[in-house]
Amino acid sequence: MKKTALVTGASSGIGNALAERLATDHYDLILVARSKEKMEAMKAAWPALSVTVITKDLSKPGAAKEVYDEVKQIGLNVDLLINDAGFGLVGAFQSLPIERQSNMIQLNCTALTELTYYFLPDLRSSSGKIMNVASTAAYQPGPFMAVYFASKAYVLSLSEALSEELSGSGVTVTALCPGPTHTQFGAVAHAENIKMFSHTMDVAAVASIGYRALMKGKQVAITGSLNYAGAIAAKLLPRNWGAKAVRMVTKPKKK
Ligand SMILES: NC(=O)c1ccc[n+]([C@@H]2O[C@H](COP(=O)([O-])OP(=O)(O)OC[C@H]3O[C@@H](n4cnc5c(N)ncnc54)[C@H](OP(=O)(O)O)[C@@H]3O)[C@@H](O)[C@H]2O)c1
Repeated sequence: MKKTALVTGASSGIGNALAERLATDHYDLILVARSKEKMEAMKAAWPALSVTVITKDLSKPGAAKEVYDEVKQIGLNVDLLINDAGFGLVGAFQSLPIERQSNMIQLNCTALTELTYYFLPDLRSSSGKIMNVASTAAYQPGPFMAVYFASKAYVLSLSEALSEELSGSGVTVTALCPGPTHTQFGAVAHAENIKMFSHTMDVAAVASIGYRALMKGKQVAITGSLNYAGAIAAKLLPRNWGAKAVRMVTKPKKK
């Protein structure tokens, strides 16, 4: 029977590459993001698949429930949920507008949590799979990207907890933890002035690692050996050392 995957953040970057992998494997798709034209173009490129486009700003309170209601109105069941939509911001905590930082928490944490909550009954009925896109940022505090790093620590912790809670239910939960990856993320975060994005991984490679881990039901997938080593080091070292190391690559250079 055909399976349906819902992908947030499908219009760009890692979510887009994951949607392409799913399309190659003949999944029907529900694409969620704000950029309607980009998602309509994806739909047009896959005429053999049933593709539903939901244009939604997931940083608005209540948006996750609206997505769920739209999916149910159409009469679809979700077998695979990919919570990818997210963004970061670079800068001193006090210098970044609090509204944008609250939007980030709403998108990176609240929408992801609520979508998981609403679609869990669907996923239970089909022994489905969840992927939450966290980050290697989840493993240590991140000065000058403080709220972003904290939001990803939340995503990793929630995912690991749910993976354990749901073991035996047929539903698997995978946290994908990419390091710096070549997408729109750096531009959106205003990261051009920091060292962290001087080396980035190819987005197709990141999506491939994530896709394989998702299909195997792995709890956590860290992309690339350097990122893996960094995450292990962060686990072993005192957290204030981790924060000091991150500061060296996230502190904006003086212009
Ligand atoms: N790139 C990296 O270095 C990196 C590393 C680790 C983790 N990640 C994580 O990977 C995920 C995807 O990021 P990316 O690197 O692929 O960046 P990206 O190219 O900027 O893609 C972000 C996606 O999220 C969607 N999005 C942003 N704000 C949204 C909103 N308010 N409502 C709905 N959708 C929204 C965007 O679509 P619209 O603009 O059309 O809404 C886009 O599809 C994020 O969770 C990010 O934190 C990225």
